[in-house]
Amino acid sequence: MVRILIIYDSRTGNTEKMAYSVAEGARKVEGVEVVVKKVDQARIVDLLDADGIIMGSPTYFGQMSAELKSFIDKSVEIHGKLEGKVGAAFTSSGGTATGAETTLLSMLQAMLIHGMIVQGRHDDKHYGVAAVENPEQEDLDYCRELGKRTALLAKRLKGINDGPGRT
Ligand SMILES: Cc1cc2nc3c(=O)[nH]c(=O)nc-3n(C[C@H](O)[C@H](O)[C@H](O)COP(=O)(O)O)c2cc1C
Repeated sequence: MVRILIIYDSRTGNTEKMAYSVAEGARKVEGVEVVVKKVDQARIVDLLDADGIIMGSPTYFGQMSAELKSFIDKSVEIHGKLEGKVGAAFTSSGGTATGAETTLLSMLQAMLIHGMIVQGRHDDKHYGVAAVENPEQEDLDYCRELGKRTALLAKRLKGINDGPGRT
């Protein structure tokens, strides 16, 4: 069984909608179990159980929210144990070119510091999915695709990546 954990923050529901579409996409992959948690319900140990971790945050001043950052800061206690897990990110912002990409990168940066594996995308949405305010159908389609491709990668890697650092 491959486990995908989606952790998100959301104050007005936009990023939350994206989270559930990401989950829908990941569930399309056979043999994948998906858990969705708002950051205030997530525990650090949840990260250890996952093969893939997808994070979503509203864009706040071009960064992830303080709540999600605080959760990531707590994950220093398991530093080294997320090595080789797959990561991905999504965000909802108030506009275009107003900090969505830097927000995505702030989440991906933390994943890379944990030694996680992040797959880019060559054709649009290079760093993950960004929607403006309430996500439109097309944004939610991209979210489903993000969930599916992250789950597929986690599934592929699980069979060949049993070295040190895997939990
Ligand atoms: C404290 C705060 C800071 C924000 N900073 C930005 C920003 O830098 N750039 C931007 O495009 N939108 C910004 N926004 C707008 C939110 O990113 C946007 O409304 C988003 O859709 C909220 O997502 P949510 O419904 O999941 O909470 C900010 C909103 C708040 C409350």
